[in-house]
Amino acid sequence: MNLTLYVWRQKGTAEQGRLEQYEARDISHEMSFLEMLDVVNDGLIREGKDPIAFDHDCREGICGMCSQVINGIPHGPQERTTVCQLHMRHFKDGDSIYIEPWRAKAFPVVKDLIVDRSSLDRIIEAGGYTSAHTGGVPDANAILIPKPDADTAMDAAECIGCGACVAACPNGSAMLFTSAKVTHLAMLPQGRVEAARRVCLMTEAMQREGFGNCSNHYECQAACPKGIRVQFIAKLNREFIKARAR
Ligand code: SF4
Ligand code: FES
Repeated sequence: MNLTLYVWRQKGTAEQGRLEQYEARDISHEMSFLEMLDVVNDGLIREGKDPIAFDHDCREGICGMCSQVINGIPHGPQERTTVCQLHMRHFKDGDSIYIEPWRAKAFPVVKDLIVDRSSLDRIIEAGGYTSAHTGGVPDANAILIPKPDADTAMDAAECIGCGACVAACPNGSAMLFTSAKVTHLAMLPQGRVEAARRVCLMTEAMQREGFGNCSNHYECQAACPKGIRVQFIAKLNREFIKARAR
């Protein structure tokens, strides 16, 4: 396939960015999206030009590093698929593809397609850790947890902290991300010990970092590659109100 790319290029946080046009030639439909960018970068390096900077690590859909808006959609057109797991068979010869970084006040652009998502790390850090001793595996199994609660906790734990929910939200809200982290621990007895303190501190951190509030657009849920549901935001709100009342 031959494709035309329009890629956001920006030298640094304080610099002005712009879309630049590149040709991606002889792209196999078996390549991943990031491998296609590797091919384009190889060509740029051979020509002595600055390669396109983009984040990636695992390339297996588990680390949450690959943060690109493809044709206006965070992580691109495939549902529940990270950029690294998106394959070129979903595009066709002659396509034009627009590639931009996450856009949110709390995610300043570092370079090109790389944004600083350390604000999400600081929300997690604000939550602290659990003080309950969970012991070895047999001890953990000895704590009886209702199956629906365990399932909900595991569903919430699927969040990979990619930030697509923030990029998709018109308010740049991190409530889907924070709600997944809060719910993951609040559903389990080990996490209940500090649950009230955790939800207050994480919510304060979220506001301090400049994320907006949820106004029920549900764009976050649609963009999330891990299927985190907005019901978790309702859980976050309930946990927060309970904690404040206490
Ligand atoms: S909730 Fe979904 S979109 Fe948001 S950070 Fe977690 S995995 Fe990414
Ligand atoms: S590179 Fe790890 S999730 Fe995409």
